[in-house]
Amino acid sequence: MWHAHILTLFPEVFPGPLGLSVLGKARKKSLWDLSVHNVRDFAKPPQYSVDDAPFGGGPGMVIRADVIEAALRATALPKGELIYPSPSGEPFTARLAEEFATKHDITFLCGRYEGIDHRAIEEYNMREVSVGDFVLSGGEIATMVMIEACIRLLPNVLGDPDSSKLESFTANPHLLDHAHFTRPRLWRARAVPEVLHSGDHAKIQEWRKKNAEERTRTMRPDLWDKFQT
Ligand code: ADE
Repeated sequence: MWHAHILTLFPEVFPGPLGLSVLGKARKKSLWDLSVHNVRDFAKPPQYSVDDAPFGGGPGMVIRADVIEAALRATALPKGELIYPSPSGEPFTARLAEEFATKHDITFLCGRYEGIDHRAIEEYNMREVSVGDFVLSGGEIATMVMIEACIRLLPNVLGDPDSSKLESFTANPHLLDHAHFTRPRLWRARAVPEVLHSGDHAKIQEWRKKNAEERTRTMRPDLWDKFQT
């Protein structure tokens, strides 16, 4: 079973949306699981502090390396690769989700404040991964993003296994998904493209391919350049 192990200062955040709908049902069916550990439980007396001011000065606080060490020891983690969500990490992509989804165990250490003492990142060979070029207040939501992207790829999680295969980035890493339509055929004077009613599978495929390309060209010129090369 695919198992995510999470170290966080805010364990109440989990499972959150990972417990709902398709993902929640898949967890009940034991297709994946999640263990959550509170880093604060491993802080040392008398202060029980998890963070301290940064050497060299500056704003914010940094999570202590010795607290991370104590948390990893006491929980017998990491199991599998140790991921540290960070805006300075390698970009999280569909390819990385596929790689993570093939593992049995994966561990996420969620940072908060200004992050964690860099020596812990090195000592535990953490893999820094970013979910985008913006800054979140902590690693929890980034961890959820990564876990959700992985679970959808696990066998038997989605009702129709083709749905994840045909989406943006999965079918082609540089192409967005085509537009989708359902009933009613006419809504606010907007008609569904005629070809989608034709029953001609080849024509429908051709329309979807063109639509995906057009959407990529206009919405994501950066991807479009890569797609063409
Ligand atoms: N933590 C804070 N910002 C983040 C980001 N963009 N990606 C991953 N983890 C983060």
